Amino acid sequence: MNEPMIDIAVLGLGTVGNGVYEVITGNGLHIARSLGGEALRIRRVLDLRSFDTHPLRDAVTNDFSLIVGDPDIRVVVETMGGLHPAYDFSKAALEAGKSVVTSNKAVVEEYGRELTETAQQNGVFYLYEAAVGGGIPLISTLHGSFGANGIRRIAGILNGTTNYILTRLLDDGMAFDDALRLAQEKGYAEKDPTADVDGLDTARKICILASIASGKSIRLRDCRAIEGIRGILPAHVEAALLHGFSIKLLGVYENGTVCTAPYLVPLDSLLSATNDVFNAVSITGTAVGEVVLYGRGAGARPTASAIVSDVIEAINGTCPPVFRAEADEPGSGSIPARRFIYVDGCPDALPRNAVRTTGGGYGFIVGADADTDAFRTTPGYCEYRVLDPLDCES
Ligand code: HSE
Repeated sequence: MNEPMIDIAVLGLGTVGNGVYEVITGNGLHIARSLGGEALRIRRVLDLRSFDTHPLRDAVTNDFSLIVGDPDIRVVVETMGGLHPAYDFSKAALEAGKSVVTSNKAVVEEYGRELTETAQQNGVFYLYEAAVGGGIPLISTLHGSFGANGIRRIAGILNGTTNYILTRLLDDGMAFDDALRLAQEKGYAEKDPTADVDGLDTARKICILASIASGKSIRLRDCRAIEGIRGILPAHVEAALLHGFSIKLLGVYENGTVCTAPYLVPLDSLLSATNDVFNAVSITGTAVGEVVLYGRGAGARPTASAIVSDVIEAINGTCPPVFRAEADEPGSGSIPARRFIYVDGCPDALPRNAVRTTGGGYGFIVGADADTDAFRTTPGYCEYRVLDPLDCES
């Protein structure tokens, strides 16, 4: 007797698309159990390339109409990357009554609200757990388990590539370019790694999480800052360590505001202990206090795990709409943070907490409202925010 099948299509057979195939074939029994005994089958793959030896070679087409016009295909998985035609294909699939599952944070950040509304109008789902934090269930957690909480803060290491690079620089003394090349070889980095290295990828992800947490439309243009890791020098790391901190690239949402930048995080925090390609996100709720989710934030299989789980949710109809329908304006709060200053030389008025690095530079911490103008002319001047713990008892 033939096993009952649920047909899906995959747009883009790259690293993540292949991961979806591997998870579906490798975890078939678990998936079927979650689907009441039915198996998932990839009926079509959209890709411009041909794959002569790939097990899915006969499913590959470059004609999207064969997918959108096929009534047997219930879910379209979009792993193409880029805004267009990924957005256009997603929109068309939703309008044709197919759920869409994606790992594409660029499309989610730009068009997520619109595509969610299109899905609702057509009685299907637009789901994107894989777009933020790879295999870590962040979006479903924010929706489900934090339902009884206001969100005081989200602070996350949301980019595996930059965390991998920072770890290689610090632990192995590797050069930046070599560490980036290694991250690319492992399939962590975006096609254009500047999006990783300069903070754009993290910014997109924190905007998506902030929009879910706040119910408002928080976009890239609302970010207080989008800074990356190119400027982090060994001397900065050394001075931060002497103060009891490590430096991590964070996306932070607090007081209705988002910011992406390298932050000093306390050495005894879970964020500080998050190394290599791992991501970790600290979410502080008004009732539960701080919860930290940790796991693999990039790579084919972790990302595919989130995608296939979303496919299951879409078929079972067990998922909430993940953007609210109303498009409020973002908040206008500020994120008060102590700041860490590094200078190469010795400024005139050296604060008492300054530490001296082996290279002769100084690092010190100033209050959130401190006037730092006096230091800005000192050679090597550099400034980082400090992520202080929140008081969860108040
Ligand atoms: N380039 C991304 C990262 C992939 O390194 O985290 C996952 O979004």
